[in-house]
Amino acid sequence: MEFSVGITALGAYTPRKVLTNDELASMVDTSNEWIVERTGIHQRHIADPSEATSDLAYKAFLDLSVHHPVSPREIDLIVVATVTPDMIFPTTANLLQHKIGASNAGAMDLLAACAGFIYGLSTGAQFIKSGTHKKLLVFGADTMSRIVDWEDRTTCVIFGDGAGVVMLEPVDPEFGIRDVILRSDGEGASTLSMPAGGSRLPASLDTVRQHLHFIKMNGRETFAWAVRRMGEVLEELLQRNSLKPEDIGLVICHQANGRIIETTWKKFNLPPEKFFVNIHKYGNTTAASIPLALYEAYHEGRLKKGDWVVLDAFGAGFTYGGVLMKWWLNG
Ligand code: UT7
Repeated sequence: MEFSVGITALGAYTPRKVLTNDELASMVDTSNEWIVERTGIHQRHIADPSEATSDLAYKAFLDLSVHHPVSPREIDLIVVATVTPDMIFPTTANLLQHKIGASNAGAMDLLAACAGFIYGLSTGAQFIKSGTHKKLLVFGADTMSRIVDWEDRTTCVIFGDGAGVVMLEPVDPEFGIRDVILRSDGEGASTLSMPAGGSRLPASLDTVRQHLHFIKMNGRETFAWAVRRMGEVLEELLQRNSLKPEDIGLVICHQANGRIIETTWKKFNLPPEKFFVNIHKYGNTTAASIPLALYEAYHEGRLKKGDWVVLDAFGAGFTYGGVLMKWWLNG
């Protein structure tokens, strides 16, 4: 093929309000020490009541445009990975397309929970690879604070709000996305879910009373599966591309829990610097976690043109997967 698909621009946004662990400790029975020790999280950003997911995503797009001016009419397709759409329909991507003024773009939401950005990126890449599209925006955006049960200490301490976006375009065949793994294990569906609000349990007074419109998670079980599956994905990407762990420039894991990332770097006998971590600042931002981390890694000079980069994510479903790419943008 005469071209590959690469990330050619990035943008990010996190809401101004920061909620610290100490503030959380005044809301539920928890402590800064417990949260830091068990998760690595120090704070998270919380959207203003006036902000919904399309607003966070739009601000991420404005940030991208500052670094990389783009004419909205050139955008072919907008993919938004989210579990917290502004509403069930129309899609957040539709709302975003209108805000951006991308009058020639198609728009779709994609729900793959914390692996959403990996699914969005690989879906978007296929449109460029096939030659039908030239300039795409892939967003990972979530306003988790709207679906977190602020009375449930086992979940409310880990999630946060944010948005990230990348532009995908054809790039030199030596660079860009080289391999993708997308997997699902629906047996884990009840381990992490938001039970009500869909066709199974439509909203009713009862579902509201029972807190069924909030995240329900068996944390310990999710943790064990996340460690296992994210390790498998990294291993498989290395093996089938004949790469050794030390060949990788940077691994960007979904930021779910600092201990999951730590277990992974120890398993592969890699130094911690090879794994990007920003969970201390943002908590678990679901679909936004990987694009936020990618953005920060890039702006901190941790991604150099030609580096092998692995994205690795696991989330509700269970849904998981990874992307291997040779970084294209100059640092
Ligand atoms: O993003 C999608 C994927 N999500 C994940 O990967 C999340 C994976 N899971 C986790 O990150 C961790 O399981 C949690 C951070 C959610 C919980 O940490 P843990 O070390 O697995 O705690 P645990 O659930 O095993 O609970 C240990 C103890 C329990 O008390 P007892 O029963 O031992 O007395 C909990 O009640 O810690 C208690 N606990 C808390 N204590 C203070 C649970 N949450 C809290 C809390 N503050 N916030």
